[in-house]
Amino acid sequence: MRSYRKPLSRSTALAAVALAAVSLQPGSASAAPAPASAGSVHHQVVGGTKAGQGEFPFMVRLSMGCGGALYAKDIVLTAAHCVDGSGDNTSITATAGVVDLEDSAAVKVNSTKVLQAPGYDGKGKDWALIKLAEPVDQPTLKIAENDKLNSGDFTIAGWGAEKEGGSQQRYLLKATVPFVDDAACEKAYGDQLTPGDEICAGKLDTGGTDTCQGDSGGPMFRKDDAGQWLQVGIVSWGEGCARPGKPGVYSEVSTFAADIEKAAGELGG
Ligand code: ARG
Repeated sequence: MRSYRKPLSRSTALAAVALAAVSLQPGSASAAPAPASAGSVHHQVVGGTKAGQGEFPFMVRLSMGCGGALYAKDIVLTAAHCVDGSGDNTSITATAGVVDLEDSAAVKVNSTKVLQAPGYDGKGKDWALIKLAEPVDQPTLKIAENDKLNSGDFTIAGWGAEKEGGSQQRYLLKATVPFVDDAACEKAYGDQLTPGDEICAGKLDTGGTDTCQGDSGGPMFRKDDAGQWLQVGIVSWGEGCARPGKPGVYSEVSTFAADIEKAAGELGG
């Protein structure tokens, strides 16, 4: 039973998080300011460091407490569990162009429509598109159209919790996690995993580096052969955060590339 995968109200979510270690809940809607950090040594996504301004210009923070990436200048690719369904929707605000969510240069654009993965039922297919009211003048992130680069080391980034049970971040954090193959990931998660739809990453032996609550919907990416960033995953779920033997689980973008492209076409992108 995967009822914890359903988007819930905030108060229900808090109860659910307390009960379920494996959680897909987005983080809280507002970003809590991180402590002042001049000269501090360790920022922890979990186990990460601060991203530089402009380093990942396609990164977007969504107002329900999720991440996303610019698939097109006016379309954000995020997780299905971050949205309520499909249709006209002007309730989401995307913040783009900044690593500091309180930067006065932040670009804030409202949604006009949401398209949740057709057939999404809480297991697999954890992707959605959000159409924006106007284009954001930032580079987009190319999606993997085949599985050739679904291995190696991946970059993760987000404004989610810096540790299990931690707070949402003001500054974008980044980290690197190695690919975990389906066999090893199934060992960790059994039937909860949908191997054809999902790709896992994390430090199996030690833990310590991972996405966490509030990073959902954000991209996992790597360089392609031409040295361009390529999105291979969408932050989806995991048991706790950064636990040894419990890798992060990401929607496998290559599996859905054709569906995503088609859906973007339907949104007018
Ligand atoms: N479901 C979470 C969210 O809504 C993401 C959890 C990712 N967990 C992990 N251990 N990688 O933000």
